[in-house]
Amino acid sequence: MQLTYSIPFLTLLPTFITALPPTHLVYEAPNDTWLENLAARGCGSILPNLLHRFSSGSLTVGITETTPDTFQVIVASATLENNSIYTVSFLVNSDVPLIHLAATVSGAGLLNGLATLNPNTVLAADSYKGVVWAIDTLTGASRIAISDTLMAPLTTSVFESTIGINGIKLRGSTLYLTNSAQALFAKMEIQPNGTAINAAEVIAHSPPGTTYDDFALDGRRDAFLATSQGNTIEEVGRVGEPQIIVAGNINSTEIAEPTAAQFGRTLADRDVLYVTTAGGLEAPINGDERVGGQLVAVDTRGLWRA
Ligand SMILES: *[C@@H]1O[C@H](CO)[C@@H](O)[C@H](O)[C@H]1NC(C)=O
Ligand SMILES: *[C@@H]1O[C@H](CO)[C@@H](O)[C@H](O)[C@H]1NC(C)=O
Ligand SMILES: *[C@@H]1O[C@H](CO)[C@@H](O)[C@H](O)[C@H]1NC(C)=O
Ligand SMILES: *[C@@H]1O[C@H](CO)[C@@H](O)[C@H](O)[C@H]1NC(C)=O
Repeated sequence: MQLTYSIPFLTLLPTFITALPPTHLVYEAPNDTWLENLAARGCGSILPNLLHRFSSGSLTVGITETTPDTFQVIVASATLENNSIYTVSFLVNSDVPLIHLAATVSGAGLLNGLATLNPNTVLAADSYKGVVWAIDTLTGASRIAISDTLMAPLTTSVFESTIGINGIKLRGSTLYLTNSAQALFAKMEIQPNGTAINAAEVIAHSPPGTTYDDFALDGRRDAFLATSQGNTIEEVGRVGEPQIIVAGNINSTEIAEPTAAQFGRTLADRDVLYVTTAGGLEAPINGDERVGGQLVAVDTRGLWRA
């Protein structure tokens, strides 16, 4: 009996989506600046990660918080000769970071996404080698923790073909990951020391004309993925559920070449999805439009979700 009543109710729910949620520009970097990643501090400020792709300097690619107000950041030399982890910490009520080299990962290809395994250990996605490293930020020791076929790069796709595993996020014992070359979002169970329990399983594939970069997990069970040259944020739930564009448009610079996303951490902004962008530096919008790398806020409160 209840079921018969629930069917018309469910079919009405989607009418609550009247328009995509509002977005607003928080910050725009100068032209030719690539914002690759970000983290929100507990106090509410955002640390966007600048990636000066075309300079001779180094690239900063991944960031994760390991203990309150202590962040680990991947710094790769422009030649990719060295992939290092730097620890960036803030003293209480201070905006001045203390920075030191924590580890240099010898043998790494390109460290990209970063996740916290425990207060002393980070997991780092290696986009070129198609593996995940476990790196001890106190001793500097590193080892390959996971190698899986769903992490490998490809050489057949045109866009970012050499970038395999890209973003990683850990929730409990489940590691979520994107693979740009293989156009997929996947998950796997891992041990407390970072070793895989099972093979990775595909949750979703990025639609044609998009490439999954980094992503955020919400407080429920959904992921919000940056689609790179798709210029959108796509929400993905469980396997087989519809993949929904929640912000941006392929033809618009509103979210120009998004690279990563992160929910706010204060009561006031916990439903705000902060998105970093590359501004169309690699994939200009409509063929020729570029803006500086941006930090864009997407208000997700109005989103209908099952
Ligand atoms: C940035 O690039 C746009 C488009 O090419 C151009 O219109 C604008 O003047 C540039 N801004 C600066 C500060 O150079
Ligand atoms: C790479 O690391 C080695 C050892 O720390 C150092 O001597 C070298 O200058 C580094 N290369 C670059 C390009 O940073
Ligand atoms: C990780 O933990 C598992 C389960 O306890 C164990 O079998 C494995 O040997 C550990 N691996 C490393 C590298 O410590
Ligand atoms: C983007 O622009 C193209 C060319 O004008 C058009 O065919 C397409 O429908 C547009 N896509 C969206 C999502 O607006």
